[in-house]
Amino acid sequence: MKTHLPDESATLEFAGRFFRALPPGCLVFLRGNLGAGKTTFVRGYLRAAGYPGKVKSPTFTLVEEYSLEGHAVYHFDLYRLTDPEELEWMGMRDYLRPDALCFIEWPERGEGILPNADVEIILDIEGSTRNLTILPISSIGQKVMEAIQ
Ligand SMILES: Nc1ncnc2c1ncn2[C@@H]1O[C@H](COP(=O)(O)OP(=O)(O)OP(=O)(O)O)[C@@H](O)[C@H]1O
Ligand SMILES: [Mg+2]
Repeated sequence: MKTHLPDESATLEFAGRFFRALPPGCLVFLRGNLGAGKTTFVRGYLRAAGYPGKVKSPTFTLVEEYSLEGHAVYHFDLYRLTDPEELEWMGMRDYLRPDALCFIEWPERGEGILPNADVEIILDIEGSTRNLTILPISSIGQKVMEAIQ
């Protein structure tokens, strides 16, 4: 499924639809070049979930944690990962719990260690706008895509 996002607010609004659609335990990969809108997408999700605080890019910390009404959301940015093995050292397995929702920017940096996603969100830059593709990988991802339509 593809959609055109003409500006930042469109990304925030569209990401907000995922709030009810993504079940706990879901693994979401966010793909796209630098500045494609991956962090904006996570911000839109968290806003829709009622998170009032700042949503900053975890570029240097690798992971940022948010506790929402009973379930945890982990937002990863693996851009600075030099070796996928680092994910083992940081205890990736503890983040990929059935009660936690994980968003991962730059999942290609963790290839070989990361499991397959349930759903991939691909952002492409087109001039001053963006195109978003939803790629369901698992049966859970398929349900997610159906739920946001
Ligand atoms: N649909 C859109 N149209 C135009 N600009 C957008 C859109 N969505 C987000 N942006 C803008 O793109 C810029 C970069 O966004 P963001 O930081 O989310 O990118 P990113 O993919 O996380 O980049 P990085 O890989 O560096 O972490 C921001 O200024 C944001 O406002
Ligand atoms: Mg980012």
